[in-house]
Amino acid sequence: MRLKDRVVIVTGGGRGIGEEYCYGLAREGARVCIAELLPEEQVAPIIEDIRAEGGDALYVRTDVSKQEDTERLAKVVMERWGRIDGLVNNAVWQPAKPFNEFTVAEFDKMMAVNVRGPWLCIVAVYPYMKAQGKGKIVNIASQTFFYGWWNLAPYVASKGAIVGLTRALARELGSQGIRVNCLAPGLTVTDGALEPVNESILPGQVNKWLDMHVEGQCIKHPGYPQDLVGPLLYLLSDDSDFMTGQTVLVDGGWVMH
Ligand SMILES: NC(=O)c1ccc[n+]([C@@H]2O[C@H](COP(=O)([O-])OP(=O)(O)OC[C@H]3O[C@@H](n4cnc5c(N)ncnc54)[C@H](O)[C@@H]3O)[C@@H](O)[C@H]2O)c1
Repeated sequence: MRLKDRVVIVTGGGRGIGEEYCYGLAREGARVCIAELLPEEQVAPIIEDIRAEGGDALYVRTDVSKQEDTERLAKVVMERWGRIDGLVNNAVWQPAKPFNEFTVAEFDKMMAVNVRGPWLCIVAVYPYMKAQGKGKIVNIASQTFFYGWWNLAPYVASKGAIVGLTRALARELGSQGIRVNCLAPGLTVTDGALEPVNESILPGQVNKWLDMHVEGQCIKHPGYPQDLVGPLLYLLSDDSDFMTGQTVLVDGGWVMH
């Protein structure tokens, strides 16, 4: 087990790719905190599954865009397990429409959840990682930042900001033993990703959207949440200790950088 007894927070871990991360982490021996806006009853089955397999997991109701929530999150995790080894900044708000149809409030919310949220979570866990002399932060970006997609402009901008945040914090925190890397998934089959496609990117043609992606990829199947678990575990494990500030693209080999 590569992450035996490590304590890892996964924001937005209550569904989609984040849920798969939680299961993957628990299988590697990590104690997992699911920091979610979703209500506890929706997340409870994941916690129960992990405990049934002999693991340990915790739900903390968190809105990552609110500092009082992120500070409380770190405190609750410290009270429960006494350390924080990893943070996965995965929570997202990802609506889609033509760039000029977003309201200012929607644009600001996207930045608050997708950019301010990861920053606030890092601010909250930093004192504990610093005191430990080690920590692993994985920010979740997106292939869309490298490729550009229509009807996703504020989302793509928010994911670009995450790549920038990763690089800047890698330099600022490296000497304290804190590694900051970024995982950028390509299109991955989740409700959260396919709903906006169905509603406004390619209305009613989700399969065509998936086919377009598979056609562009070297590896000829759609991306699924489990395709991202291995790279995430690597970035959280000691195997990647000499790596920081990097963005790892996992998209079946469409975009290469
Ligand atoms: N699915 C894809 O195709 C794809 C592609 C590239 C990148 N990504 C990235 O992967 C991550 C997960 O994507 P997904 O498709 O599983 O998303 P999803 O929409 O299925 O899940 C996102 C989760 O974040 C939670 N969340 C939303 N706002 C929150 C807040 N303010 N505080 C706490 N939690 C909040 C939601 O409740 C939800 O459980 C995101 O960062 C996304 O940008 C996904």
